[in-house]
Amino acid sequence: MSEHTVSPRSPADLRGVAVVGSGRALPRTRVSNDDLSALVDTSDDWIRSRTGIGARRLAGPGESVTTMATEAARAALNHAGWDADQLDLIILATSSPDDLFGTAPRVQAALGAHQAVAFDLTAACSGFLFALVTAAQYIRAGSMCRALVIGADQLSRWVDWTDRRTCVLFGDGAGAVVLEACAPDRDDLLAFRLRSDGSRQACLTLAHRERLRDVQGGFTTEEGGFHPIAMNGQEVYKFAVREVPIVLAQVLRDADLEARQVDWLLLHQANQRILDAVAERFSVAPERVLSNLESYGNTSAATIPLMLDEAVRDGRVQPGHLLATSGFGAGLSWGAAVLRWSGPPPSGSATAEPPST
Ligand code: COA
Repeated sequence: MSEHTVSPRSPADLRGVAVVGSGRALPRTRVSNDDLSALVDTSDDWIRSRTGIGARRLAGPGESVTTMATEAARAALNHAGWDADQLDLIILATSSPDDLFGTAPRVQAALGAHQAVAFDLTAACSGFLFALVTAAQYIRAGSMCRALVIGADQLSRWVDWTDRRTCVLFGDGAGAVVLEACAPDRDDLLAFRLRSDGSRQACLTLAHRERLRDVQGGFTTEEGGFHPIAMNGQEVYKFAVREVPIVLAQVLRDADLEARQVDWLLLHQANQRILDAVAERFSVAPERVLSNLESYGNTSAATIPLMLDEAVRDGRVQPGHLLATSGFGAGLSWGAAVLRWSGPPPSGSATAEPPST
């Protein structure tokens, strides 16, 4: 157990939120830009220069949101030294569930987290940040002590593999963190802001496919099904480079910090040009900007915890480090937070990343 150990229900002096462990999981199959060039009219040079992406992992047979989320969750629980049955809450951020009724309960069952309530939360690529803040509110309210927050997506299910404008961008994966009640003066969530703008929803969609079905007996209903992902790339790009700096500046101000005081900029991994533009706006040096786009592309709700875990395990992010983080994407939805990493120092050995095939 971590040093933040508390009793099952937290008293008023334990209403802070400590981030005490992380984990990640990736599918085995690696697909390079050159592999995609055989599918659609694109090239490694075009994809790298416009996005920074070199490859992505795609879930294959036997892999799913449930399996990736469970692996990432197990790694995060091990990292924190927790047993699954100590969890009160599991929130799974995903837009590509295995079951529209909820995938989090499958993860709960797979983990054996018998005491935990488990539910999905959908906010596209902002999902992990929204879920993290949601879990923190339960802890701050005193109704939950130990929470697992997972971001997991398998957007390869919903990509049109004939559309070069979108198929090169996305990959599959999962990341997770565990949160624990702690003394308020040690709270690791220093500030957050969440935003939505449904009037710009059409920029990026995975929309229900309208198809009518005549049911015997005289009434008509819609049939279930979705269109593949559709995106206005330029509008999404402009949205990100405009809104992310604004919301980041707000959370830094809320936390009474300047950008130079945070150790790492941890943005949703959508596009290296977006990362560079935001970093430049805050005069953050490239070596303080976390990026794994080259290896994994945009894994939607998974990018932030996946990147965090990688940087924690390889020793870049150390206990006590401050991270300015921002998620953004479909909805449109976006937000930012200032976080402190309180988890164990790097162990290096407990990652759930399989070798690629
Ligand atoms: N390979 C080769 N050419 C491609 C291509 C690809 N994979 N995708 C698009 N093109 C072509 C277009 O068809 C267009 O050709 P045309 O001029 O003959 O019509 C040309 O490249 C320019 O397209 P455009 O959409 O203007 O490119 P861009 O410079 O805006 O780059 C994105 C496209 C998608 C990389 C960029 O808009 C972007 O990153 N947007 C943000 C997307 C994002 O992050 N989404 C997720 C948010 S969570």
